[in-house]
Amino acid sequence: MFCEFPYMKKITSLILFIFLLACTRELADMNDLLGEPYQPTAVTIDLAPPFPKMEFPTDNPLTEEGIALGRRLFYDPILSVDSTISCSSCHHLASSFTDNKSISFGVDQTPGNRSSMSLLNIGYHYKGFFWDGRSKTLEAQALIPVEDPLEMKETWPNVIEKLKRHKTYPILFRKAFGILDRDSIQKELVVKAIAQFERTLISSGTSKYDLVKKGLATFTEDEAIGEDLFFDITIDVKDAECGNCHSGVLFTSLQYANNALDEITDINDYEDKGLGQITNDIYDNGKFKIPGLRNIALTAPYMHDGRFETLEEVLDHYNMGGHPSPTVDPIIRPLNLTDLEKQQIIAFMHTLTDTAFVQNESFSNPW
Ligand code: HEC
Ligand code: HEC
Repeated sequence: MFCEFPYMKKITSLILFIFLLACTRELADMNDLLGEPYQPTAVTIDLAPPFPKMEFPTDNPLTEEGIALGRRLFYDPILSVDSTISCSSCHHLASSFTDNKSISFGVDQTPGNRSSMSLLNIGYHYKGFFWDGRSKTLEAQALIPVEDPLEMKETWPNVIEKLKRHKTYPILFRKAFGILDRDSIQKELVVKAIAQFERTLISSGTSKYDLVKKGLATFTEDEAIGEDLFFDITIDVKDAECGNCHSGVLFTSLQYANNALDEITDINDYEDKGLGQITNDIYDNGKFKIPGLRNIALTAPYMHDGRFETLEEVLDHYNMGGHPSPTVDPIIRPLNLTDLEKQQIIAFMHTLTDTAFVQNESFSNPW
């Protein structure tokens, strides 16, 4: 048969060749993102007083496009191995970006070993991230959950492949970072975008506490005494010492301390060494990042292992002076607070609830 059409084979090959050429051209065009404009809009955040100016890394300035991309990525399960878990699975807006569990659960409901942390005002934190401070920057922090086998259990090369193949992400990366083609999507850009979004998660400045400080509201008598106990403002009330560690605008000095959670005799025996695991200094064993207490009423359970269900339990712990161990902070001691005084401190902490923050649409799931 074919002998009757001697040129048939050649013609078929030629058609195939032209077809393949067209295909590769098309692929090359798909990779090229130059058709999309790169005109990032710089963002300056209107900070509600008393919140100070935030320092941004010079190589990751805030832009509208970067924040929007970071927000999508934060809420997108594409970062996890089986598309079941996003950052927001363990950091819910309504709970001030915690998950209200004593420990978090990752892919396949794998239990983690610590409690999720609030992301409120996270852009101000300059002394490390995680309970043990093991990441130095927000960008470095965001690299960790993706490959953590107890969290998203994915690999960065896989995530990058998924993003490159995605319908819209390449364009969003182009708009945010000016990349020329899909192949330029890198994990460094993913975490830059997420960090930009996180830096926008700032208090609204409209908690009752803030309104009182601005002269726009007044504390109840219990709240006022609670504040006095917390910060030791006057000599008339007892000093509960809280303000030594939970200090300043953020209600944390951002230092690491041992607040006497467990009784331990040998300095090497802390079940979770916390900061000591990272610095390899035994005198840091049992020390953890001092959490900010804004929105504390929304973030139960409490402590790095979520051991306390309620603020009452937290106050009972501090009131008894905690448990002795080699690295306990010397400020921690029995406080001899009455039940009423404990309740007054709790009432004061409730004034730190920032309803406008947890209802802020621009922090919510964009999908
Ligand atoms: C499976 C639950 C889970 C997922 C998913 C998760 N986190 Fe977390 N996150 C945690 C826990 C638990 C901690 C504290 C862990 C520790 O100290 O070892 C934490 C800590 C943090 C911190 C440190 C906060 C501070 O005050 O130091 C940041 C920032 C953060 N997560 C952001 C993210 C981002 C961004 C993602 C997504 C890329 C993410 N998390 C995904 C549970 C999770
Ligand atoms: C020596 C410093 C220090 C003092 C004083 C102190 N704290 Fe803390 N606080 C910490 C540290 C460190 C943690 C986290 C400990 C951990 O999880 O291992 C913490 C955790 C907390 C938490 C839980 C936060 C969370 O997100 O889980 C609350 C609530 C709290 N403190 C309230 C108080 C109150 C109220 C007082 C005063 C009665 C007080 N603290 C005094 C250092 C201190």
